[in-house]
Amino acid sequence: MRSDNTPITLDLFADQAPSTPGQTERIGQQAFVLRGFALPWLERLLPDLEAVLRAAPFRQMVTPGGFTMSVALSSCGALGWTTDRSGYRYTSRDPQSGQPWPDMPAVFRELAQAAARAANFEHFEPDACLINRYVPGARMSLHQDKNERSLTAPIVSISLGLPAVFQFGGFERSDKSLRVPLFHGDIVVWGGVDRLRYHGVLPLKDGAHPQLGAQRINLTFRTAG
Ligand code: SIN
Ligand code: FE2
Repeated sequence: MRSDNTPITLDLFADQAPSTPGQTERIGQQAFVLRGFALPWLERLLPDLEAVLRAAPFRQMVTPGGFTMSVALSSCGALGWTTDRSGYRYTSRDPQSGQPWPDMPAVFRELAQAAARAANFEHFEPDACLINRYVPGARMSLHQDKNERSLTAPIVSISLGLPAVFQFGGFERSDKSLRVPLFHGDIVVWGGVDRLRYHGVLPLKDGAHPQLGAQRINLTFRTAG
């Protein structure tokens, strides 16, 4: 059965024309795709991303069910999302190094806040930035983001590198999901009534991005603590 807040845009596919910077697409009552929103920030952001990744390199984590995730993860900010055989959780230290996660660079925070504001979420204070790396074939199966203490803050999700197809579904895993192509510089923001929607990413297609090469990097900002 379809719920009242079933997403309202048309399905689009990644092989279609790239997105138009500046365009906003509504994919739910309180869910938006901000096309190209990150592009003007990337000259500042990419060097800081490299520094974060030198301090906390990508690693492949294991789910509580014992599966190694195809997506490699890192984090910055006060809290980092991790998973291992004992469960999913946020930690203040990188379990690999034993050190606190790298600080969230100012440009990350400012961009996440600007995107949240553009989607009508004022006063977003992210304390966690999860960094996901997809190589061709890597995918993220449908899930809800619900390890955060409070669910009042939105999720801000920035796409960099190769295009991907983002699935944005309902409140049950089996609900039909929208397929939204995401390109380098696009930002998705969802919160409020849409905060707990299932979402995921279809297997990344082969390709080479002019700036990032054969990968997609996603930055997901949340208020976790
Ligand atoms: C996530 O849900 O953590 C990742 C979403 C994405 O890679 O776009
Ligand atoms: Fe997620």
